[in-house]
Order: sequence, then C-alpha cells, then structure tokens
Amino acid sequence: MDTLRLYPTADGSLTFFSELFQEAFHSLHGAKQESEIKYVGATGLPQRAREQSQLAVLDVCYGLGFNTAATLDFWYGTSERRAVRLDILGLENNGQVPLGAIAHKLTAIWHPRTQAILAQVVAQGGSDDGSVGVTLNIADARQSIQTVRSQWADAIYLDPFSPRRCPQLWTVEFLSHLARCLKPDGYLVTYSCAAAVRGALLEVGLQVGSTPPLGRKAPGTIAAFVPLPPLSCLEQELLNTRAAIPYRDPTLSASAATIVQHREREQTRSDRETSSSWRRRHPEIPQ
Ligand SMILES: C[S@@+](CC[C@H](N)C(=O)[O-])C[C@H]1O[C@@H](n2cnc3c(N)ncnc32)[C@H](O)[C@@H]1O
Repeated sequence: MDTLRLYPTADGSLTFFSELFQEAFHSLHGAKQESEIKYVGATGLPQRAREQSQLAVLDVCYGLGFNTAATLDFWYGTSERRAVRLDILGLENNGQVPLGAIAHKLTAIWHPRTQAILAQVVAQGGSDDGSVGVTLNIADARQSIQTVRSQWADAIYLDPFSPRRCPQLWTVEFLSHLARCLKPDGYLVTYSCAAAVRGALLEVGLQVGSTPPLGRKAPGTIAAFVPLPPLSCLEQELLNTRAAIPYRDPTLSASAATIVQHREREQTRSDRETSSSWRRRHPEIPQ
C-alpha cells in the first residue's frame, strides 16, 4: 500500500510523492509541462494526427493520468487533424493513484472535457464517445501488456519510477513486449536516459536517440524501429560500459530486489569497463 503526498512542481501543477518508491510522480520542473513536451510532443503525435486517420497510444504507468490528459488536450485543442479516432490504453497497478488525483482536484489543470473523461475512466474503467476511447487496465503492467495486440501503438509513453526503484518495468523482457506492441513506424518515449534502459531498448531491436532536456541537464530517450538522429559519441561510449547491462526478468514476475541483484551479478562478471572508470576518463561529464 502506497502513501501519496501532494507535491508542488515548478510550472504550478501539483503531483504526488510516493512514500513506497520514495520518488515524485513527475519532474519537479513541471508535471504538466513534462507530459506535454516529453511525452506528447516527443512522439510526434501532432504530425501523425495530420497524416493518419486513427491514432493509438499506450500509456504505460497511467498514474494521475497526466500523459493521457496531455494527449486529450492536444486532441481537442487542434483543428488541423485528419485523424477521426484516438484510442488510449493506460496500464497502472494502483487504482488509488488516478482516484486520488481526481479527489484532490489535481486534474483541474486540464481542459474540462479532458477532466470529464479522466473522471469517467476512474469511475468506469473507460470512456468512449465514438471518436475518443480511453481504457484503464488496473493490473501489474507485466501481465496486462501481454494482452495488447502486436503493432497496435503509434506512440508508447514509458513512465515508471526510476530503474533502481522499479526495475520490473525496465527489463529486456518487458521492453520486448513494448517493442512488439509498437507499430513499425511508431515511437516510444521515456524521461530516462539511463544506460541500462538504452541497452535494453537496443537489445530488443529498437534504435535509440535523445530527446531534449527539460529543466535538467539530462535528456530523455526516444526509441523506434525507424532511424533516429544518432546519440552523441559520449552517449554511445557509455553504452559499452557495465552501466548499459540491462535488467532482466525472464518470467516477468521477479521482485525488484531479485532483478537488481541479478544485474549486479552480471555486471561483476562482465569484462566491460565500469562506468565509474569511464567517468574518471571523462571529467567533463556532469555527475
Ligand atoms: C512515475 S509514476 C507515473 C506518472 C504518470 N505517468 C502520470 O502522468 O501521472 C509511476 C506509476 O507506475 C505505477 N506502477 C508501479 N509499478 C507498476 C506495475 N508493476 N505495473 C503497473 N504500474 C505500476 C505506480 O503506481 C505509479 O502510478
């Protein structure tokens, strides 16, 4: 059972802080901004909406529903689209989070129409007005992902707590399901630039690039089957170190502690350079 504390962010939007994971649900630099720029903007949905008749979005770790809300606000706020149908599927294992967001009025920052959909999703598990369908699946995402159709998603938002705290949702096996669900020309985006995450995305056959930093020095990550602008030389070098050894969870059921321990063992056995030794050779890189 998680205890959720209200947590203000720099753009004026409020989020939660999780006592269980000891992390905020959003960037302190702005929860609303993060959803709009790091997720909706980075996956190129506005452009796709001009070119395609339908869009499908997989919101992994729905939480307060902000990434879904930013998608709905974009959808209702643009007249320049050919798309007539938007489907969003949210995966989340703690129903108290979206419920709490509405109870504390944290969703009041979004368009009234978006707020109404978020409320209906929490009350009924979904909402469909004929042109926009949102479904929320409350279960461990490692299980619910197995029911999602292959090549379904134009965009995947990957927004778990950090890899150290929630390694279950950053493993090669979980990301391989996300890759399976992604359309051949779709994009997956996440706030994390961790080498272990990028290493796993590469291992499941995706290419990786950086998204622009937002309020902090570190970039986010975009992944796709289509070519992306290449990583910088330093980012690529880091992927040859032990830091890029990914998390693994062959049965999609291991505990966080087990997943972390197995990775540490694999790192110890590896003959790759350690990331600390690599960083000593590159003092110009911020810690
Ligand atoms: C960083 S927050 C997501 C924030 C969210 N995207 C938003 O806009 O509010 C991570 C979320 O992952 C959920 N979570 C943790 N473990 C999970 C799991 N195994 N399956 C599904 N969701 C999980 C947490 O309950 C939390 O809501």
